[in-house]
Amino acid sequence: MPAPVRLTILSRSLSVPSTARLVAAARARGHSVRVLDPVQVEMHLDGTRGQLLYRRRKLVLPDVVLPRIAHSITPYGLAVANQFGMLGVPVMNTAAAIAQARNKMRCLQLLSAHGIAVPATVMARSAGDLKAMVQLVGGVPVLVKLLGGADERGVMVCETLNSLEAALEAILGLGHNLLVQEYVRKAGRDVRVLVVGGTALAAVRRRPRMNRLSNTLNRGARFERIALTDAQRRAAAEAARLIGLEVAAVDMLDVRGLPKVFEVHSSPGLAEMEKAVGEDLATPIVVRAEQIARERPPALDPPPRRAESGRVGPAPRPLKRARAS
Ligand SMILES: Nc1ncnc2c1ncn2[C@@H]1O[C@H](COP(=O)(O)OP(=O)(O)OP(=O)(O)O)[C@@H](O)[C@H]1O
Ligand SMILES: [Mg+2]
Repeated sequence: MPAPVRLTILSRSLSVPSTARLVAAARARGHSVRVLDPVQVEMHLDGTRGQLLYRRRKLVLPDVVLPRIAHSITPYGLAVANQFGMLGVPVMNTAAAIAQARNKMRCLQLLSAHGIAVPATVMARSAGDLKAMVQLVGGVPVLVKLLGGADERGVMVCETLNSLEAALEAILGLGHNLLVQEYVRKAGRDVRVLVVGGTALAAVRRRPRMNRLSNTLNRGARFERIALTDAQRRAAAEAARLIGLEVAAVDMLDVRGLPKVFEVHSSPGLAEMEKAVGEDLATPIVVRAEQIARERPPALDPPPRRAESGRVGPAPRPLKRARAS
């Protein structure tokens, strides 16, 4: 058995299936696990590194934090994850990495700039010269992706320049961001790869419900186990590394053996993937958490600035790794 670790999972509830799986896997390895609802964590900033409270009581700092921040609470949840990091607790999936993954435009920019194949994409804030825009992504049909907040996402296929013009007018008129992407015809080409600690562990093919594009399970899609190809394995591991995620699901479309990555998730749904592949995927995440807790020296952010007067502010308190009040 490994040395026991105090693991904190940031998640809205223990009843979220992925959270429940991680808790069970961690307990099975003898660790003590706490699930904290991020919105009930308070951050007190006082000129030092600050402190964290949970339901008004000072938090005992764990050995490692695993954030599973729901999209609906991203800004607050990321501030909480960041605060743990500033207090010297290793955070698996840092706030910066999660933010990077959740911004589809920046995520694609970063991947593409580092040689990961992505579907040809144009980002624009005005409909401008549609013909030229469409040529850049290889002609119609194209996919238009809405890049709003948690509830304002969606994709649509535009078969003609006219339908694209109408779609862009409507979306831009509402003030939303969007991107226009090469439409990869995809019968059975939509692949999701789980990456943990830099290693691609498992892959599923996602089949949407008839006449639907969306491939999330709650919209009726199905997952099927597939064997990973070398190209998929490499693209997924490299994408997770570039975004900076310890735990990631990398979504890609297989184009004649070339994987084109279109999205990276920082809180992959584990339970559904485990069911599809028939393997325990939570334990490898816990094992990685153990390694990080053991090996990584506390990564501290820069110390608080000196006061303007030149006086040095109160020294940061020693990092408490042991139980506090
Ligand atoms: N370039 C593309 N060509 C063809 N199909 C695509 C392309 N990009 C995405 N898709 C399909 O559309 C679905 C939704 O795209 P994406 O994941 O980028 O959007 P989303 O806003 O995150 O939606 P969802 O919540 O359904 O994942 C994907 O699961 C994939 O099957
Ligand atoms: Mg998606």
